[in-house]
Amino acid sequence: MLTLKNVNSFYGLSQILHDVSLTVGDGETVGLLGRNGAGKSTTLNTIMGLLQQRTGSINFNGIEMAGLKPSAILHTGVGLVPEDRGIFHNLTVLENLKIGYLAGKNIWSFDEYQKYVFGLFPRLKERLKNPGKKLSGGEQQMLSMARALGSKPKLLMIDEPMEGLSPEYVERIRQTLLAMKEHNVAILIVENNIKLALDICQRIYFIEKGVIRYEGSSREVRDNPGIRLRYLGVS
Ligand SMILES: Nc1ncnc2c1ncn2[C@@H]1O[C@H](COP(=O)(O)OP(=O)(O)O)[C@@H](O)[C@H]1O
Ligand SMILES: [Mg+2]
Repeated sequence: MLTLKNVNSFYGLSQILHDVSLTVGDGETVGLLGRNGAGKSTTLNTIMGLLQQRTGSINFNGIEMAGLKPSAILHTGVGLVPEDRGIFHNLTVLENLKIGYLAGKNIWSFDEYQKYVFGLFPRLKERLKNPGKKLSGGEQQMLSMARALGSKPKLLMIDEPMEGLSPEYVERIRQTLLAMKEHNVAILIVENNIKLALDICQRIYFIEKGVIRYEGSSREVRDNPGIRLRYLGVS
């Protein structure tokens, strides 16, 4: 479904990603893990076209995405839930959802979309008229994910969704991610909580200083504490 081959990305003159290659299969959930500053967000932003890769190929279902604008990439079926959540704080939950929906290509009706996201996030339905800034961190994360689903992506990329959330919301988001799997949405997730990542993901990549150092099934990572220690500093 998604294939990156030797992708190199820069911020100005400094090269951040070095020959990054990775794949996400249909309906697969894949984790991208690594220490702070390793290049995880840069990888997701490059796939989304927010940062232009200099060389290499990013192929999604046969479409070469290198050089496409973020809006065009969205229309191929890729969504991003950014690290900063990126919701509109002065707009209500409903208005935020409308923006997410309108960014898409009318693949479904707004009613169908609402039904889908309220099934995943019943909490948002209770908060429809509240402005984004009145939501708790966990609710904002739900809104950010719900909004990204407006375009009905086949692949959803999620950047550290659990960061700073209470255990209760971590559990809710975890359940939602598992539910999205059932709906056959492929997921590429940055999640440094190794226990959670292994629980949610089928496969894991470890990235270090912009280089993919390891790729393996969650089972292989679970059985190999040395890998976790080496690339995350935790066992
Ligand atoms: N907008 C930016 N301009 C310049 N350098 C950046 C920018 N964003 C990130 N970087 C640098 O790119 C590297 C990778 O960052 P990032 O992808 O955000 O790491 P991670 O998400 O793994 O914590 C870091 O060295 C960071 O300082
Ligand atoms: Mg990051």
